[in-house]
Amino acid sequence: MANHQHRQSGRGINGLHQTDVVVVMVPFPAQGHLNQLLHLSHLISAYNVPVHYVSTAIHNRQAMLRFHGWDHPNSVSNNIQFHDLTIPSFLSPHPNPNAPNKFPSHLQPLFNASLHLRDPVATLLRELSSNARRVIVINDSLMAYVVQDVVSIPNAESYAFHAISAFGCFLFYWRNRLGNPSEENAKIPKDINPSLEGCFTAEFWDFIASQRQFQKRCSGRLYDTCRIIEGTFMDLIEKMERDKKQWAIGPFNPVRMPEEKSSTGRHKCLEWLDKQAPNSVIYVSFGTTTAMEDEQIKELANGLERSEQKFIWVLRDADIGDVFNGEVKKPEIPKGFEERVEDRGMVVRDWAPQLEILSHPSTGGFMSHCGWNSSMESITMGVPIAAWPMASDQPTNAVLITKVLKVGIIVKDWSRRDQIVMSTTIENAVKMLMASKEGDEIRNRAVDLGGAVRGSMDKGGVSRMELDSFVAHITR
Ligand SMILES: *[C@@H]1O[C@H](CO)[C@@H](O)[C@H](O)[C@H]1NC(C)=O
Ligand SMILES: *[C@@H]1O[C@H](CO)[C@@H](O)[C@H](O)[C@H]1NC(C)=O
Ligand SMILES: *[C@@H]1O[C@H](CO)[C@@H](O)[C@H](O)[C@H]1NC(C)=O
Repeated sequence: MANHQHRQSGRGINGLHQTDVVVVMVPFPAQGHLNQLLHLSHLISAYNVPVHYVSTAIHNRQAMLRFHGWDHPNSVSNNIQFHDLTIPSFLSPHPNPNAPNKFPSHLQPLFNASLHLRDPVATLLRELSSNARRVIVINDSLMAYVVQDVVSIPNAESYAFHAISAFGCFLFYWRNRLGNPSEENAKIPKDINPSLEGCFTAEFWDFIASQRQFQKRCSGRLYDTCRIIEGTFMDLIEKMERDKKQWAIGPFNPVRMPEEKSSTGRHKCLEWLDKQAPNSVIYVSFGTTTAMEDEQIKELANGLERSEQKFIWVLRDADIGDVFNGEVKKPEIPKGFEERVEDRGMVVRDWAPQLEILSHPSTGGFMSHCGWNSSMESITMGVPIAAWPMASDQPTNAVLITKVLKVGIIVKDWSRRDQIVMSTTIENAVKMLMASKEGDEIRNRAVDLGGAVRGSMDKGGVSRMELDSFVAHITR
C-alpha cells in the first residue's frame, strides 16, 4: 500500500486539491488520544486537505516525538500545522502504583487545565474561518467544552472523535440513553457487558458529566475502527442514532511498516527480534497511563521466567502530565532477574517502537492492558493478545478481544481486579498463548483478522472507501 507515498508527489490520493476546506484536530491531551488523532491527521492530509493540530506545546511535542510508523515522518509537517496554545501551568504529580483504582487520576490536574484551551481554540477557529470556505473541527469526545464555540461560527461544523472501540461506545450509549431496548438487549449476553466499577474515578465521571451540557449537535461521529472488526456494533450504533452519520475509518495507525532501509537507529529490541524464531516472542507492555505495584512486578517477572518463553517486557512508569519535566521514576526489577533470563528475554526501560515490534515476524503474542490504541495495533498486525485490563475502556476492549473476536485470552480477570495476578496465572497464560494447540488456533484467527483489516485500508477496501467518502463529504 502506498497511500503515504502519494504525498511525495504533492497530490492527494484522489488528486483532490482542497485548500478551501481546512480540518482542525482537537485531541484530548493523553497519549492514546494524541496519537490516534495525529495518525488521523496524517490520513486526511494525504488527501491534500490542510490539517491544523491543536494542543499545548508540551503535548504537541509529545505527540510528534512518539509518532512513528510512516515512511516520511518529517513530511508530515508539510500539510499538518501544529498550533502550540497556552494554558495555565498545572501540577504534574507521579502516579501512585498502590492505588486500588488504576485510572490515571494523577493526570486529573492536566485534564482540568485542558479546559482552558477553550479561548485560544475559539480565537484560532475564528481566524481560520474567515479565510476558509469551511472549517471542519474533529474534536475528541472529551473536548466538548473546549470546542463549544464552534456553533457560533457559521461556516464551521464538528465531528466527534471517539477514542474507544465501537463496541465500547455502543455499550456506553446503550447504558446511558436507551434504557432497555429489547432488540439490542437480546444481542448482549451479560458476560460481555463488564462492570464499569473501578474503571474511572468519581472525579473523572464529574469531568465527563460537566461537559454534557456543552455537547452540541455534531455532524457525525468518527471511530478508529473497521467494519471488519466491529461491523455488528457500527450497525447497532447506526440504528440507535439514525440522524447522524457514523464513520468507521480505522485503523488510523499505518497498516504496513515501511521497508527497512538501514539498521542505523533501529531500537536494540528489533535487532534482538531478528535473531528469534517466528512467533516465538511475547511482547509485554501496559501502555502509558498506569504504574504497577512492586509486588505485581515481582509476580510478573516470576511468571515470565517460569513460562520459559521468549519475551520483550517494557517496564516504564506511567506518563506524568508534562512528560518533559520532572524526574522519570524507574520501577525496580527483581534482583538477578535480567541475568537469569538473559538468553531469552529483554527488559526495555525506554519508549519502545510498539508497531515495529508487533509487525515483526518473531512476535507471536502481546500481553497488553488493552488500551484501544494498542488493541488496534495488535489486531492490525495479526498478533493475539493476553489481556490484562487496568481501567477506563480496557475491560470492555478485553471482552471484545477475547469473547467476541476470540483473538486473545484473559490474564487479569476484571471481576478480581483488586487482586494481584499471581505468577502461576501469568505462567499458564503465557504458555497457553505461546506454546499450546489452543494458542495456535487463537493466533491463526488473529493472523486472518489482521490480514483482512490491513486489506480494508487498501484501495477499494471498506475502511479506505469510508475514509474516501468522509473526505468527499467534508470537502463537498
Ligand atoms: C500507540 O501507538 C503508537 C504508535 O503508533 C505507539 O508508539 C504507542 O506506544 C502506542 N500507545 C500509546 C498509548 O500511545
Ligand atoms: C478538577 O476540577 C474539579 C471541578 O472544578 C474540581 O472539583 C477538582 O478538585 C479538580 N481536580 C484537580 C485535581 O485539580
Ligand atoms: C464534540 O464532541 C461531543 C461529543 O462528546 C459532541 O457532542 C459535540 O457536538 C462535539 N462538537 C462540539 C462543537 O461540541
